[in-house]
Amino acid sequence: MAPVVVVTRPLPDPGVSVLEEAGLDVRANPDDRPLPRAELLARVADADALLCMLSEPVNAELLDAAPNLKVVSNYAVGFDNLDVAEARRRGVEVTTTPDVLTEATADLAWSLLLAAARRLGEGDRLVRAGEWTGWGPNQLVGQPVGGRTLGIIGMGAIGRAVARRGRGFSMPVVYFNRNRLDPAVEQELGARYVPLDELLETADVVSLHAPLNAESRHILDAAAFARMKPTTVLVNTGRGALIDEAALVEALRTGQIAAAGLDVYEREPALTEGLTALDNVILDPHLGSATTTARAAMVRLCAENITNVLAGRPAVTPAPGPPLSPR
Ligand code: DGY
Repeated sequence: MAPVVVVTRPLPDPGVSVLEEAGLDVRANPDDRPLPRAELLARVADADALLCMLSEPVNAELLDAAPNLKVVSNYAVGFDNLDVAEARRRGVEVTTTPDVLTEATADLAWSLLLAAARRLGEGDRLVRAGEWTGWGPNQLVGQPVGGRTLGIIGMGAIGRAVARRGRGFSMPVVYFNRNRLDPAVEQELGARYVPLDELLETADVVSLHAPLNAESRHILDAAAFARMKPTTVLVNTGRGALIDEAALVEALRTGQIAAAGLDVYEREPALTEGLTALDNVILDPHLGSATTTARAAMVRLCAENITNVLAGRPAVTPAPGPPLSPR
């Protein structure tokens, strides 16, 4: 009998064909809606592999419901939805999709950065509302970007891709990361390692790219916003809970910082009260990897991880974490 692969949402091109061509018994949710938890738990009962989304917690409860499971392939590079240690302890491999979405996510961070700094959301709303009366010297004056200091929190592949783009804007780059980069990489990026407080106090733009974990949750809280300049533009394409969203609403409302561009939210898709009422924030619905090429490459990488593990080969892109126990 062919191994069973449960896929929790319809996938972009090339879709499940890559799994079917590998001779797997693919059981895909045909509806583009998140599966209710009970339905997901029922569907994985005889699954050998699970291709899941970043919004679906893979924890002891799910692993209990899926006794045949050998591999969980997360359709995302972020893995805060996965209990990697628990899965590996049970001999279940866990994989993610690094690298293939780096450029797409860095492009989106820059889109938000420029849109927030130059108040494009407000401008768009003004024109659409038919309220624009013509050019004015004081109209929607925003923050400068070129030549200003770019501060990056989390200098993995995406943080580095954002830093590279900053060089094209003649921006000095400061960064904070769990580990300092190799000096040759720092030199290539023109990036200087600084303590977090110094970054918050000196950067004109702060972009978040750290993974979400116990250490990084609310890395930007009320105390952090108090250190920032009133001209600072904040961008988050990482994970929403890196920011204390209630504190951010307050910082934007009181002018403690100038503007923000958000792709991700603390309790998405729910938004903290007050966020949508603010003019100085650009909000988009978690689109970091949403380009045709990135999403297709993510499908292929997820499929390759599944076929490898089911064939007894190592995963191509295992999630960071403890080693896999034998089953
Ligand atoms: C990821 O892959 O973690 C991104 O958030 C998806 O856009």
